[in-house]
Amino acid sequence: MASYPQGPKVQDHDSVRAVHWDGGALRLLDQRLLPDRVEYLVLEDSGAVAEAIRSMVVRGAPAIGITAAYAVVLAVRHRLAEAGRQWREALEPDLQTLAAARPTAVNLTWAIEQMRVLLDAQPADPLAAALQLAERIHSEDVAGNRQMGRLGAALIAPGSGVLTHCNTGSLATGGFGTALGVIRSAWGEGRLSGVFADETRPWLQGSRLTAWELAQDGIPVTLICEAAAASLMARGRVQWVVVGADRIAANGDVANKIGTYALAVLARHHGLRFMVAAPTSTLDLSAADGAAIAVEERPAEEILHCGSGRIAPEGTRAWNPVFDVTPAGLIDAIVTERGVVEQPGRGTAQFERWLGEKI
Ligand code: MRU
Repeated sequence: MASYPQGPKVQDHDSVRAVHWDGGALRLLDQRLLPDRVEYLVLEDSGAVAEAIRSMVVRGAPAIGITAAYAVVLAVRHRLAEAGRQWREALEPDLQTLAAARPTAVNLTWAIEQMRVLLDAQPADPLAAALQLAERIHSEDVAGNRQMGRLGAALIAPGSGVLTHCNTGSLATGGFGTALGVIRSAWGEGRLSGVFADETRPWLQGSRLTAWELAQDGIPVTLICEAAAASLMARGRVQWVVVGADRIAANGDVANKIGTYALAVLARHHGLRFMVAAPTSTLDLSAADGAAIAVEERPAEEILHCGSGRIAPEGTRAWNPVFDVTPAGLIDAIVTERGVVEQPGRGTAQFERWLGEKI
């Protein structure tokens, strides 16, 4: 992967990292505790990493994929020590446990598949080869995000306000971020009149994570509750909605954090532009359209409670899909590290040309 030069101003706004490989162990910033506490979990067992992914210690599609790649390194080390020559067969359940940790973020299965192909080729030193690939997946993600940042920022006219959803930044990736990387770049280039983040119920990735991450990097942000998005748009405060993706189907339909679809409908109603920024590892060409994407549903308790407090009467039923699908027709631009697809709903989402190519 080529490296992409950044202006010093953009670099000044890029200090946060959530996933670290540290002397043989995986160190994860525990995102459940933010913004109150900055604490790391040190994990040496792939099963514990799968549980950390499931329980939202680490989240965001690219970060989940990178974390899983390092978890495979831990699993290879364990199986080599325990099963000797049978290590490859013994590894298979570990790969399956990791892949099942969260169903929608396709970067998870993408990263595990990269590791599987490498290990199936029987490298002379499987542990060293696995670590090298995991580190490459990690560093290429950061480089790709910087490129996406430049491409996405170039679409935003100077003086624009932007609204983002969930957390798509350094916390959700190897570093720099996808949609938040676009915002980071646009801010560094002096293009933005304002950055708005919605709180993103029920896990509050917007208020807990995006607001925290942008504060670390000196980018002022105004938080809104999700219900305020229409009013914000009606008052002309934003010109773009910029979001990430957990999976993009072959026709350009995008699965992302629940509430994304509503923002896309609102943006179209108000004549605003809607951008999705995601690496090509988020493309799933086996899904013809959004209907083929599995949407994760999480426990009702997540919306019956806010923090440690219950916010609905005992016995209340709740439905908690944590992603939704935005039809390609509502999207103005899909920005990847390999290029931009404008108006994917008009049949321009021909991603095949990017896959399998080396850059
Ligand atoms: O449930 P989460 O926090 O993992 O959901 C994250 C999102 O929906 C992000 O928008 C998406 O993964 C892209 S992150 C660069």
